[in-house]
Amino acid sequence: MSITYKDVDGIQGMRIAGRLAAEVLDYLTPLIKPGITTREIDRLAADYMKKQGTTSATLGYQPPGYPPYPASLCTSVNNVVCHGIPNDKPLKKGDIVNVDVTVIKDGWYGDTSRMFMVGEVSIAARRLVNITYEAMWHGITQVKPGVRLGDIGWSIQKFAEAAGFSVVREFCGHGIGRNFHEEPQVLHYGKPGTLEELKPGMTFTIEPMINAGRRDVKEFGNDGWTIVTKDHSLSAQWEHTVLVTETAYEVMTLSAGSPPPPPFASQ
Ligand code: MF3
Ligand code: CO
Ligand code: CO
Repeated sequence: MSITYKDVDGIQGMRIAGRLAAEVLDYLTPLIKPGITTREIDRLAADYMKKQGTTSATLGYQPPGYPPYPASLCTSVNNVVCHGIPNDKPLKKGDIVNVDVTVIKDGWYGDTSRMFMVGEVSIAARRLVNITYEAMWHGITQVKPGVRLGDIGWSIQKFAEAAGFSVVREFCGHGIGRNFHEEPQVLHYGKPGTLEELKPGMTFTIEPMINAGRRDVKEFGNDGWTIVTKDHSLSAQWEHTVLVTETAYEVMTLSAGSPPPPPFASQ
């Protein structure tokens, strides 16, 4: 499938879907505490989506070669890089967890994820979470017409590696619209001035996965989904859906409860 460019109606549809996805995370935020299980988080999110009038894009999602994804969101704890499936293990103080929500509203998709720190976490874990957040924003702030995807990847990689962390290569951001995953692929590493040129109306996600240790990942267990770090080190991820505007970018997955952009990103 090729890149789709959104017109005013598409942009409005994407704004609504994006905000609703972010509001699921707002709703979950005060509930993510020691003792709650990720299955409970999933259940509560599914109920909330019903009230919103949205549908989970992940429930039953089945790309070629994968089993159907069994939950309404992804919960990736500690050394889980992405696509963690909610389960019955309670979260405990010191855990870091990514909650990744994708909803469909009126046929439009909104995709966003945040990190949550469960109770007090180690200084190392907190630093990984915060550096990964800034890495995502370094990517976002590159976005404007004429810039290339390689510029986004490079800005993320440069920042994350300067902090002593590594960038996962096997998973990337993606175009999004009336489909969950569209072209282009948005790599979180790369070379300046390379790859596709950004044009107004493009919508895609920026969702860097950053590891505290080595960048290598592997599948975990036999659920067909869960990805972990090979060296068991912690991994963090944040995700926004962005629009390329005539002059720069618009983040489509903001809500009242979104963490503020870092100071360097004030537009
Ligand atoms: N939301 C993820 C992304 O950012 C994809 C999850 S697919 C699932 O692209 F099936 F694992 F839920
Ligand atoms: Co995504
Ligand atoms: Co996502």
